[in-house]
Amino acid sequence: MKKIKIFDTTLRDGEQSPGATLQPEQKIVLARQLAKLGVDVLEPGFPISSPGDFSAVQQISRDLNGSGVEIVGFARAVTQDIDAAVKATADAELRRLHIFISSSQILLEHQLRKSREQVIQIARDMVAYGKRFVDRIEFSPMDASRAGEEFLFELIEAVIAEGATVINIPDTLGYALPEEYGRLFRRVREQVRGGDSVEYSTHCHNDLGMAVANSLAAVQAGATQVEVTVNGVGERAGNCSLEELVMAIETRKQTLGVETSIDIGHIYETSRMMSRHMHFPIAYNKPVVGRNAFQHESGIHQDGMLKNRNTFEIMEPEKMGIPRNMIILGKHSGRHAIKHRVVDELGISMTEEQLEQLFVDFKKTADELKRVTDDQLIQLVGKTVNRP
Ligand code: KIV
Ligand code: ZN
Repeated sequence: MKKIKIFDTTLRDGEQSPGATLQPEQKIVLARQLAKLGVDVLEPGFPISSPGDFSAVQQISRDLNGSGVEIVGFARAVTQDIDAAVKATADAELRRLHIFISSSQILLEHQLRKSREQVIQIARDMVAYGKRFVDRIEFSPMDASRAGEEFLFELIEAVIAEGATVINIPDTLGYALPEEYGRLFRRVREQVRGGDSVEYSTHCHNDLGMAVANSLAAVQAGATQVEVTVNGVGERAGNCSLEELVMAIETRKQTLGVETSIDIGHIYETSRMMSRHMHFPIAYNKPVVGRNAFQHESGIHQDGMLKNRNTFEIMEPEKMGIPRNMIILGKHSGRHAIKHRVVDELGISMTEEQLEQLFVDFKKTADELKRVTDDQLIQLVGKTVNRP
């Protein structure tokens, strides 16, 4: 069975989700969890973007040595970004430089303000520049799915000639349809000179709810790496969700003929941990990790489940570390119960003053909602700690 690499970009692209900002210390803890989960490649931040992000990438590069995880330094196609990414990842045992530049006409005209010829020249020069320091170079033509084949192929051919080793084809706006996205990968592999000498990666956004379907279409068309985020966090409607993609492959691996190295037993704890740190609640009906993903309401379903779980479940939640029974918090719960849930069980540190404020907010919410779920509690925590 063919192995598909999982490239996690929760701490870079995922962090671009409004309000999901992380401190460097949080990134280090989360990076360790992602390594434990079994991701192959990790993009921990954007080194040029802030001193904090630079330091997070640098510390994670050191901290994960020996884990087998390849660390990625992310950079625009400019020398200052590349220098920062190279420096931040210098101590990583395994590393990669990820260079991107816009490729669709609309971005060239209105965002980058460069001609196609200029973009090809810049991409060439910057890949050659990066290659002086790092052997493994991933190149991303941003908005590739709207770039038009002729220019896209020319651009990819140019960077392969300069030594790019991984070609990522981002569906930056979540615009592609699975069939056309898969076809694009097939055509790049067949038509671009040198196209059979590199690895292919897929990077999908979820604006039309097709990020997982598009990523799988790319895998079936030869992509060997999928870029994902935990809980699908990311710009706008987010990125391809790690847990959905991994469980789709796990559940349908005989049909797809591929597998991943993810230890699915850590999926749930990773998802909850990310949600807590980002103060980002998970939708009830979110596949795999949502509160309702394994709850059965109708009598027919419950009856079937009691006879045989396979009647209405295609995955076993226990295998992903998902507890079947959650303790319900409501208006009768006291300070102790709230503190126990937040601090001991969810692992969030709060001052006594913040806990007191949280308790007041909790009581109001519990009066309105009858029961308060973990996600609602996390939202309340977010409101409390972010209060000016
Ligand atoms: O969505 C995107 O195009 C990206 C990069 C890979 C540039 O996040
Ligand atoms: Zn992206």
